[in-house]
Amino acid sequence: MIDAPENASAPPGAGLGLRRALMGPLLSMADEAVDFLELAPENWIGVGGRYADGLDELGERFPFVMHGLSLDIGGPDPLDMQLLDGVEALMRRFDIGLYSEHLTYCAADGHLYDLLPIPFTEEAVRYVSGRIRQVQDRLGVPLVLENASYYAQAHRDLSEAEFISAVVAESGCELLLDVNNVYVNSINHGYDPVSFMERLPLDRVRYMHIAGHYDEADDLKVDTHGTDVIDPVWDLLYIAYARTGPLATLLERDFNFPGLSDLLSEIEQIRSAQASSGMATRGRMPAGAAHTARQRLDAADWATAP
Ligand SMILES: [Fe+2]
Repeated sequence: MIDAPENASAPPGAGLGLRRALMGPLLSMADEAVDFLELAPENWIGVGGRYADGLDELGERFPFVMHGLSLDIGGPDPLDMQLLDGVEALMRRFDIGLYSEHLTYCAADGHLYDLLPIPFTEEAVRYVSGRIRQVQDRLGVPLVLENASYYAQAHRDLSEAEFISAVVAESGCELLLDVNNVYVNSINHGYDPVSFMERLPLDRVRYMHIAGHYDEADDLKVDTHGTDVIDPVWDLLYIAYARTGPLATLLERDFNFPGLSDLLSEIEQIRSAQASSGMATRGRMPAGAAHTARQRLDAADWATAP
């Protein structure tokens, strides 16, 4: 079990995903360039050599949060306690207080190498909440779960927002709000992204993700993390901040990497949105920001939220 961190919140500000392909540029950037780094434990457990040296150096310079890929919290297989041993070891080694994952399943008698939606049912709420409590008991910290992007529609008796809310209430977990996933799902499944967000327990959001996606067609967006963030997703971030305050936010970029300066300019955009939101929460709404964003989204032809 991890000792409760002194500051249980995510590191404030704007963070970047720590990918091996970015190790060189990240080591060369200034300490103030980002506020934290996010790493996938699966990519770093048991790693040695120059990557381990680089990880150690970055760990001395930047706070880390952990974002897992393969916990399979909603799947039928037993939980991978060996993975959790590795997660705990990394949390201890780098004094990490936050472990996030996806509210999905990714295995059924072996890995499926995809993050798939859990059926939105009461039975699934009880099942996944039991597994979340197992993880929380093992690690001694709340598990933080991300609203997933999905393409095939899972069986549902509940709406997506009702399902997420019920899991949070029953398990005591926290949320990682991925605003790009909200946007992508809102297009692919035809709902209003703002109404969807407003139906979530936003007081349980620990931090946020923002990312680019692939534009397959007007009604099909694919959550790839391989392009720049587009304006409607930035707008959604402003709208989220207006409701949650300027929570820590991570820029996800997994491939097709631009130069570090381009990534850092998106980091600056996050910081700028956070600064605007901070002003707004003190009653000084900055020009543009959430109001304009809401107007722009209202102008779109959204269907009803799920
Ligand atoms: Fe994400």
